[in-house]
Formats: sequence, C-alpha cells, structure tokens
Amino acid sequence: MARSAAALLTPDYVVPDEERVGRRLESYPALVSRLSRQSVVKHFDAYADIEWDAEEFRIDPEDPRWEVALDRGLGATAWYRAQPAGVRARIGLHTIATFMRIGVEFESVLKRGLLDFAAGLPGGSPEFRYVYHEVIEEAQHSLMFQEFVNRTGLDIPGLPPLLRFVAARVIRLARTFPELFFVFVLGGEDPIDHVQRQALRGEQPVHPLLRRIMQIHVTEEARHLCFARHYLKEHVPRLGTLRRATLAAGAPVILAIMAQLMMRPSRAIIRQYGIPDAVVAEAYTKNPRHRAETVEALRKVRELCAELGVLRPRLWRWLGIWEAPPLPA
Ligand SMILES: [Fe+2]
Ligand SMILES: [Fe+2]
Repeated sequence: MARSAAALLTPDYVVPDEERVGRRLESYPALVSRLSRQSVVKHFDAYADIEWDAEEFRIDPEDPRWEVALDRGLGATAWYRAQPAGVRARIGLHTIATFMRIGVEFESVLKRGLLDFAAGLPGGSPEFRYVYHEVIEEAQHSLMFQEFVNRTGLDIPGLPPLLRFVAARVIRLARTFPELFFVFVLGGEDPIDHVQRQALRGEQPVHPLLRRIMQIHVTEEARHLCFARHYLKEHVPRLGTLRRATLAAGAPVILAIMAQLMMRPSRAIIRQYGIPDAVVAEAYTKNPRHRAETVEALRKVRELCAELGVLRPRLWRWLGIWEAPPLPA
C-alpha cells in the first residue's frame, strides 16, 4: 500500500531506530533479528509506493529543479553558471541519472555478494533471514533507480570492463573475506546516504520524484548501514594478524574508489557537455572544499575503522581521503 510523503518525513528516517541510544547493550543476534522484523513493518515497493505517472513526478529535462547545487562542486564554477538554464538543468539530470545507474550496478554486486554470503552461513543463523530481506530491499531500490533512468530517456552505460572485472572480485570476497566485503558495502552506502540526507535537509528545491526516491532509500539504507557496521564490530576483533593488516590496507583503497564514483560527474558527462579540464579541476580535483566533503562523507566509516583498530592514517592521507588542512578564511 502506498505510504504518504508525510509519514516519510517523520524523524524516523532521520534517526533510525537501530541507531538510537538505549539499544547499545543489545546482543548482535538480537540486533540482527530486530533489523529483520523492521524489514517486515517498514519496507517499500518500487511500483506500489511511487506514483510514477503522477503529474508532479513528470520529468522535464529542463526543469530548473534538476540543476546541481550552486554552492559546491561544478555548480559553484563560473563555467556552469554561464551555461543556459536548460543546459544547467540537463547536466544536473544527467548527473542524477548516472548516480542512479551506478546505484543499480553497486546494488547488483551487493545482492550477488550477499546471496553468496548467505549460502555459506550455518543453518539457523539470524543473519540468513536479515541478508535475504536486504537483498529484496536492494532489488526494489534497483527497480526504482532504473525506472527513474528509463524515464529520463538518457542512455546511461553500465560499468566499463575494468570495473566489471573488479566487481566480480568483490563478489567473491563476500565468501572468502566477508569483513572486507562489508567495508565495500559501507563504501558504497555511506557516501550516498550522506549526500541524500544532505539534499533532503538542504534549502535547494528538490524535484518531488527525486525526493520520494531519496526518502525511501535513506529509510531502508539505515538498516543496511547498521547491519554492516555491527557485522564488522562483531567479526573484525576475531580476525588474525594477516587478515587485519589486509583489511587495514584494502579498506581505504576501496573507500577512495567508491567515493570517487559516487561524488563526481562521470567522464561521459564531462565529454558530452564539453566541460573543460580546468573546470573539472576547479570543481573537484583541486578543490579543497570538495575534498573536505569527500572526507566528511567517509567520516563514519573512518571512525569505525579507528574503533576496530584498522585505521592507517598515512595510507588514507596518501589516497586523499584524510582530513584536509582547514580552508583559508
Ligand atoms: Fe539501496
Ligand atoms: Fe543498501
């Protein structure tokens, strides 16, 4: 049954149950069982819960609400501001559609990994049920994201061959090294969750269809993030020295790549709209504010790595995802 937008705007999605203080003494199996029950009472269907054909959800590529945020990244450059309004909106819509397509690819890797992970669990494990709920929820998200992409009329390609190759290796990790696999999960889910919550709270107008999709997504992702974090807290302390060292080295590499994919426009967009190299550098590569935002999007994972004793600041700094020096006043 469709849920009202008002119901989604309750503080529930901002502060998920699973993160509330007072739950801290709950055991890991009890937490996993509670997350499973929440998946039964608070879940969404990509088609029953979004009125795709509603007039207010219609996608007009030149709707100014698609424009990228004007206070950061590409939106803050003189080049972007000098483009005609229609082009600014189209670049914004194309960027959103690309992120959704990346979301579909990421969730595909995630679902296949989770299914392999579940296949290796002992009978009666509470994780089995939880993981199947998560796979179902991710399938609904992918239906939702792909439906959005289809309705933009844009042709967004899937992963390039190199990333496809890497994706196959990541799926295998779910069985051979689940701790590293769940760091990958956080690397995909945490930055996008951060960006979506920021957009929902921000002052810039958001197209109602995009708002609906983001509200549904952050509500369910709260559970997924909670499970991944607690899985790591439960299992990393039991790892041997070699595995801990591998996790400490692999985590920032995975996180740096994921943040890059999730927080910047794709090469295809740069090419299609003729965005000059100097503008890309100004907006992203050489922009201390963008770097600070990337670091902030990874803050929760970084703090978790510190808590787990697998944080290597020099490596994080070398990869450009460590705290940047303060911005000049
Ligand atoms: Fe998702
Ligand atoms: Fe998720």
